[in-house]
Amino acid sequence: MTQRICSFCNQRRETEVEPIVTGPFKVNICLQCVLRYMADFGLGDQADSKEKQQARLIPKAIKTYLDQHIIEQETAKKTLSVAVYNHYKRVMKDGEAVGSVSVDELPKALEDVRLTKGNILMVGPTGVGKTAIAEQIAEFLDVPFIVKDATTLTSAGYVGEDVESIIRSLWEAADRDVEKTERGIVVIDEVDKIARRGGGGGSSQGRDVGGEGVQQGLLKLIESTQVNIQADMGQVMSNKLVQIDTSNILFIFCGAFVGIEQLIQQRMSSGSIGFGANKSQNKSKDKEYNDLIKELSTQDLIKFGLIPEFIGRLAVVVPLESLSKDALKEILWKPKSSLIRQYQRLLNLNNIELEFTDDAMDVIVEDAIKRKAGARGLRSVIEKIMLDIMYVAPDTEEGHKRCVVNAEVAKGQAKADIELLEGA
Ligand SMILES: Nc1ncnc2c1ncn2[C@@H]1O[C@H](COP(=O)(O)OP(=O)(O)OP(=O)(O)O)[C@@H](O)[C@H]1O
Ligand SMILES: [Mg+2]
Repeated sequence: MTQRICSFCNQRRETEVEPIVTGPFKVNICLQCVLRYMADFGLGDQADSKEKQQARLIPKAIKTYLDQHIIEQETAKKTLSVAVYNHYKRVMKDGEAVGSVSVDELPKALEDVRLTKGNILMVGPTGVGKTAIAEQIAEFLDVPFIVKDATTLTSAGYVGEDVESIIRSLWEAADRDVEKTERGIVVIDEVDKIARRGGGGGSSQGRDVGGEGVQQGLLKLIESTQVNIQADMGQVMSNKLVQIDTSNILFIFCGAFVGIEQLIQQRMSSGSIGFGANKSQNKSKDKEYNDLIKELSTQDLIKFGLIPEFIGRLAVVVPLESLSKDALKEILWKPKSSLIRQYQRLLNLNNIELEFTDDAMDVIVEDAIKRKAGARGLRSVIEKIMLDIMYVAPDTEEGHKRCVVNAEVAKGQAKADIELLEGA
């Protein structure tokens, strides 16, 4: 049987996970295009929110949602789905819901068992989806969500002010609703930059001053504390304070921890001769990294410069892999708001159908790999390619048009034509 290709995007072939249906006149359409056109008719959002409302907060539902947005990173998606589920199960009482999802009921006998808080640490190279996963989880749960950079946390000795500013931002993101704030998610990025001085790995790239002090300052916040924030900042006469309890706020820390794979390697090879010997010469660097990062343990993080008390408050450590070529290619078109879809949407407003050929996508991926910034590299490559097209798009002729980006265009060796479609 020949493999059916979607007549709408002209790209997607039928696979087990990508169904295609054939309509009258032998027109094929893939699931992704159905979803896209539903959104164009204003149906997608409704379907989405209904889907969300019906969703129960179970790991499978979270993972299925993440699958629509995040490519690969299977272990991370699964671990986080379970960790988030456990966290909110702990937070919620019977019959309650977070955002638009409700937790499944607890058996009566277990109701009084106290669960400890499970903050999360994600470790992985730059641009592989750490922040994106956290963002999507918050989106799914419909809870307030902020991202703070650990490097901005003062180490001048007074972490208190920063603690207040983190909680204040979350409170603002929750439309100043205290109850919502207390169930939000705070992502603290670049946590490897607050590694202790003298830690191993890449800590020499980090800040020298007081990384340890910042970690100390965060301990109470991430466990449980009451933070007072000033309700009307800027109003001199007002000193109304709002008190926020942080015990149910979920903290997700992210960091690239450059060089940590070497610490893992050292530990593994000193512990077992087998592992060191297993290190094959012809393994690619990425494959080697992916094999090692799976073995990450708290020992390695302590060696890197995180203090034990800090790690002790992170119940779940999730390693993320570096992305393969195939994954990068999928990231280009597959997620709901992929880069290609974003441009397709933009050009749609100028009545232009945008298409990328398969080999153009290969060129983009190759180029992005050279930038060594994971999926982040894709954006800059594609932006460069699209610049000329976006520049002329508004003043093309009236009518339904098509623009095909092929390998030559992607390499910058040719200009993309915007052609009028016949009969349009
Ligand atoms: N696995 C993935 N699936 C889909 N999109 C991804 C994936 N990884 C990264 N992206 C996209 O690439 C961009 C950068 O990813 P993200 O911000 O999550 O990187 P990060 O891992 O947090 O990196 P950094 O350590 O530099 O903060 C985002 O726009 C995201 O949508
Ligand atoms: Mg990030």
